[in-house]
Amino acid sequence: MTRISVKVDGTAYQDEVEPRLLLVHYLRDRLGLTGTPIGCDTSNCGACTVDLDGVSVKSCSVLAVQADGSDVATVQGLARDGQWTGLQRAFHEGHALQCGYCTPGMLMAARDLLRENPHPSADEVRHALEGNLCRCTGYQNIVRAVLAASEQEVTT
Ligand code: FES
Ligand code: FES
Repeated sequence: MTRISVKVDGTAYQDEVEPRLLLVHYLRDRLGLTGTPIGCDTSNCGACTVDLDGVSVKSCSVLAVQADGSDVATVQGLARDGQWTGLQRAFHEGHALQCGYCTPGMLMAARDLLRENPHPSADEVRHALEGNLCRCTGYQNIVRAVLAASEQEVTT
């Protein structure tokens, strides 16, 4: 077992973990943060995307021990005091989800894009989200929602 210290959505944790434990399993099974879903476990779908020290990563492709000393943000930390972020509102208002399984990863990847590029083109949004699969929406409303959030100068 290896001892790790990690901050997740602003809360500090210290734990003993097996070196092979994936970050997504640590978040879900150890911390109970099940808002980050597992869609494939093979780094393909992007549903498990979280922010690791300011960069969006697929948490099924990162070991928990690699997050030692890091700051992790998950979809569960986006809303503050029960208030959605502008990006979350744009997804809701723009019907950018159906089953919602991909939505946590889409939100985290889009958030990363808007921090890097506050006014992306539709092509840039599509490129930024190409690692995130959606089986329901056909992507059009997701792209529109990210563009709507960017027009409102929403970066989170
Ligand atoms: S569960 Fe991580 S990419 Fe699919
Ligand atoms: S809304 Fe169902 S997978 Fe995207």
